[in-house]
Amino acid sequence: MHLSRRVPVGSANELARLRAKLLTDGVAVAELTDTNPTNYGLADERISDILARATTTCYEPDPRGLLSAREALAARFGGEPGHYWLTASTSEAYSWLFALLGDPGDQVAIPAPGYPLIEPLARLSGLEVGEYRTFYVARGWEYDLDSVAAKAAGPGMRALVVVNPNNPTGALTDSDAAAQLAAICAEHGLALIADEVFLPFSDGGVPVPADFTLDGLSKLLAAPGLKLGWIKAPSLSREAAAALDVVADTYLSANSAVQRALPELLALADDTVARVNARLRANLDALRAAFGPRVRPVQGGWVALVDMGEDVSQRLLLEEHVYAHPGWFYGLDARTLVVSLLPSPPSAPYDALRRVARPDS
Ligand SMILES: Cc1ncc(COP(=O)(O)O)c(C=O)c1O
Repeated sequence: MHLSRRVPVGSANELARLRAKLLTDGVAVAELTDTNPTNYGLADERISDILARATTTCYEPDPRGLLSAREALAARFGGEPGHYWLTASTSEAYSWLFALLGDPGDQVAIPAPGYPLIEPLARLSGLEVGEYRTFYVARGWEYDLDSVAAKAAGPGMRALVVVNPNNPTGALTDSDAAAQLAAICAEHGLALIADEVFLPFSDGGVPVPADFTLDGLSKLLAAPGLKLGWIKAPSLSREAAAALDVVADTYLSANSAVQRALPELLALADDTVARVNARLRANLDALRAAFGPRVRPVQGGWVALVDMGEDVSQRLLLEEHVYAHPGWFYGLDARTLVVSLLPSPPSAPYDALRRVARPDS
């Protein structure tokens, strides 16, 4: 059977192999990579009852999703119900947009360092990625606008993705930067896609005005298992909206019960965001107490970057049985560790981090 080149089955990297070996040997490995909120009791207990009440065998297919669900989204996030398309996840929303905007071999510009799933999503849609750079300067992240402009001018470039705040850098895109990115997109005829799944978990971040904004319940309700995401596209031409309807109608993938439950589910969001933000703050305080300025400023998101002075990930795993992603997983320096801010405090793995850290020189 021929298998597509778009789905390479990669072999596990050395660190993942070592972790698998420890687990096979019966060693308990603490995960500092884990940003699954359901492992830390962060989702609202009322979700199950709400879903049970919403369960239905009734099927009312609409390419954009159930009107009552889209009305609830418009009430919370602005715009009109017709500006929303419901998907099974934010990841799926990316795929729909890539299918909408590009032909095989076309390109999409994505941030580096950045969220590693965007490249495979683009690849599965037959698109290639061009990475534009952001730089860590004076304890903050800045867009390299020359790099953005160079990528935007590339052959077959169709869209530019902004992740606000970015994962894993935690960097927000302020309105000046957003305006500059929008101008570059306008100059080159690119669609601007803003992934804002972490925006409620940020320090005063504001939405990036974009052609398409992606969000979902994975982060907003700390409930990735609900499998509901959405695209907000308030300014699409009639033709583009009709084309997105075609993509959506091909899949009709959002589950009926979660769509019916959405108005009630969204009413839980503020509590959930407050609970998760309290957890993030407590863990960030603990990390800062242990590592001081080695913890990079976090403007938003669920992870912190800790500068360890050297790549400690193997030693951390083998000596302390703690698994954390080295920065190179995300296009960062290997000496930077990407640490989840979700574990229930006090987090013993944070103490392990301190033991393997090289003293400040
Ligand atoms: C920046 C970013 N976008 C999207 C997603 C995926 O969200 P979903 O679970 O809705 O596919 C994640 C998941 O971690 C993420 O970090």
